[in-house]
Amino acid sequence: MKKIILIIFILVISLSYKEEKVVNNNINSKYIALTFDDGPNNKTTPRLLDELKKRNIQATFFVLGLQAEKYPEITRRIVNEGHTIGNHTYNHYNLSRLSFLEAQNELQKTSDVIFSITSIYPKYYRPSYGSIKKNQINKINLKLVRWTLDSKDWRYQNTPRIVKKVLNEVDGNEIILMHDIYDTSVDAAIEIIDKLTVQGYKFVTIDKYLQVST
Ligand code: NI
Repeated sequence: MKKIILIIFILVISLSYKEEKVVNNNINSKYIALTFDDGPNNKTTPRLLDELKKRNIQATFFVLGLQAEKYPEITRRIVNEGHTIGNHTYNHYNLSRLSFLEAQNELQKTSDVIFSITSIYPKYYRPSYGSIKKNQINKINLKLVRWTLDSKDWRYQNTPRIVKKVLNEVDGNEIILMHDIYDTSVDAAIEIIDKLTVQGYKFVTIDKYLQVST
């Protein structure tokens, strides 16, 4: 009888030890939410989607209403392949320079376009230029997502420079700002994924990122 109790005791101890190990692994993981603004673009977005699919990686796309309307197939593909879709305004106007109603309209129109194409209402938005007035935020039923690391891809348009900046600055959990409208950005994103995966980083959608990083 004593023997059985001892065996059960050891079993319980070893099981709880295993569980603790799993929890610790989670804490030690480094998560990256790659975010792509200003698309979709018919020349660059499909290639990015292909490369993400090959690696079974999900990202987040803050689309412009104007572009989503132009490329509904690519917009649908973003959602169908498990990426998170967000709202980046309709015309890429600077919302802080618009009236409250105009700003509201820019965001509402984009959410409606996304819904009409994908049957999904975006939960997140990123204002163009990251710019919005405080009193405009209050009324919008969308969660604001900025970034923690700016790749400056739109400025450099040079793959090695973009990769170097990100690899130099990455430090644990990050939301990385990129744009899926340049070939150099697509190339850089692929290189960043491959290099940081080796370093133990995990690439997730903004939805997942907000769950695991906070
Ligand atoms: Ni933008």
